[in-house]
Amino acid sequence: MHNKHIIDVQSLTTEYIRSIFKLTQEIHSEEKSPLYKGFFSDKIIATVFYEPSTRTRLSFESAIYRLGGNIITVENASESSSTTKGETLSDTIKTISSYADAIILRHSDDDAAIIASSVSSVPIINAGAGKAEHPTQALLDGYTIYEHFGTIENIHVTMVGDLLRGRTIYSLVYLLAKFSGNTFTFVSSVNFKMRDELRSFLIQHNISFEEKECLDEETLQKTDVLYATRIQKERCGDDKVCLASVSTCVIDESVLQKLNPKAVIMHPLPRVDEISLIVDADPRAIYFKQVKNGVYVRMAILMKLKENKI
Ligand code: NCD
Repeated sequence: MHNKHIIDVQSLTTEYIRSIFKLTQEIHSEEKSPLYKGFFSDKIIATVFYEPSTRTRLSFESAIYRLGGNIITVENASESSSTTKGETLSDTIKTISSYADAIILRHSDDDAAIIASSVSSVPIINAGAGKAEHPTQALLDGYTIYEHFGTIENIHVTMVGDLLRGRTIYSLVYLLAKFSGNTFTFVSSVNFKMRDELRSFLIQHNISFEEKECLDEETLQKTDVLYATRIQKERCGDDKVCLASVSTCVIDESVLQKLNPKAVIMHPLPRVDEISLIVDADPRAIYFKQVKNGVYVRMAILMKLKENKI
């Protein structure tokens, strides 16, 4: 396996992203075929998670098993690895890279994946780093949009929730910004507005966006993708306002009534209070489709890694 990392969306090319979409479609359509079994039978992949995860770790592990691969795992690394004895992330990663052919890493530090990739002798796949990036989530979100609309261009995306600390927002915007004609409305209360780095990026790249405090009818009418996120409580630190906050601009029945009939509602999950349960029955709600696509997209990411096509 070649030593190529997946650290952030910014360093992925549009060719790579399109090739992941294409391969995912093939895998999807061959779901029951044994074609991909054996692809990873000689590989050991480490899943090393310092932060909680349901979807990302289990969908990666499901993807690895579907490819016939083998897994070693540290599920609760901040408590169960040598980190508790004072070992640095660098030393832990150097060690695990002697045992595995690739490392899938989730960590609470923004620069964890960068640090890990600087010392690892095998590919690092960033499975979420602090509030910075979550590139494989962006690939599965992007694929879900592509699958639904048949294109990844000229989409108007409305993002709601914790735009300050939600890493999936950053990675998905960076991904969509690579394709032409995509535009954005960012909806959040004042304490959860996006970081300046993203605002400057959009201005620099001439990408059209607006910022609002709540979902209004005009926004909902022009929206193709309504992308909701939860408040990232674990990243509030000692910010009391953040810790005490509940979601504003909740997606409920009244939003459904005003939302463009051709729009889709997405969420990286887990959801807390930002989407009412009643929304699940609406055909525009596709967040559990994202969950399912996560396995196929991650199979494609792993297969490309082995092919060394990035
Ligand atoms: C997201 C994450 O971990 O950033 N979850 C996920 O991977 N599907 C979103 C979140 O935790 O809010």
